[in-house]
Amino acid sequence: MEVKFAERTKTMGTEGAFEVLAKARKLEAEGREILHFEIGEPDFDTPRNIKDAAINALENGYTHYTPSSGLMEIRKAVAEYISKTRGFDVKPEEVIVTVGAKPAITFSILSLVNPGEEVIYPDPGYPIYNAATLLAEAKPVPLPLLEEKDFRFSLDDLEKRITDKTKVIVINSPQNPTGGVLTREDFEGIADIIGDREIYILTDEIYSRIIYEGEFVSITKVERIRDRVILVD
Ligand SMILES: Cc1ncc(COP(=O)(O)O)c(C=O)c1O
Repeated sequence: MEVKFAERTKTMGTEGAFEVLAKARKLEAEGREILHFEIGEPDFDTPRNIKDAAINALENGYTHYTPSSGLMEIRKAVAEYISKTRGFDVKPEEVIVTVGAKPAITFSILSLVNPGEEVIYPDPGYPIYNAATLLAEAKPVPLPLLEEKDFRFSLDDLEKRITDKTKVIVINSPQNPTGGVLTREDFEGIADIIGDREIYILTDEIYSRIIYEGEFVSITKVERIRDRVILVD
C-alpha cells in the first residue's frame, strides 16, 4: 500500500546542501574528484579530547534518560559561556540543550507561533526558517538582504513587513549564505520598530566565532528587548 504522508510534510521541502551532498557523494563513488563546498562542516575529524570525553561518558554510565532540557552541568557551562561572550548574566535555567541548531529553531517557532501568524526571516537565508514556519501553519515573510548594504536588510523593508500578525523575526548574523554581519545600529533599529509589541526575536548566532572582518555583535546587547530574544548558538 502506498503511504500517504500528512499534508504538512509536503510543504517543508529539504535542505539544498544535503541534496547537493548526495549528488556529490554519488559522483565521488563513480571515481570523480570532488571538492566539497556544499555542507557546512570541518574537513577534520572530531578532535581526540572530544571523542575521549564521549567514550568516557558512555563507560561511566551516562547511558540513561537525561532531563529534557539537558544535563544541569552542560546548562551551567553554556550559561557561563553565553554570559562571558555576550556580556550579560544568563542563568542555567534559561538554557535548553538540543541536538544541533535545527531543533532549537524549529521548536522555538512551533512553540511561539500560532497558525495564521507571521514569521519574518532573512532572504536568502537558511531554509529551515521557512520550513519551520510552514510546519507551524504560519505565513513566511521573507526580508530581502541587499548587496548594496553588504547583505544587511533595510529597516524600512522590515517595518513594511510588520503587521498585527507578526510573531517572530528571525535574524542570522554572521549570515549564511551571504556572510553579511548586522550592526548595533541595525539592532537598535529593530528594537525601535517592534517597540512594546509582543514580537520575539530568534537570533541564530551559530557563526559568531567565524568572522574575518569587523566585529560580531549580538542583538542581546540591546537590553530593552532582551526579554523577547531567543538566542541559538
Ligand atoms: C545559519 C544556520 N543555522 C543553523 C544551522 C543548522 O545547524 P545544525 O546542523 O546544528 O542543526 C545551519 C547549518 O548549516 C546554518 O547555516
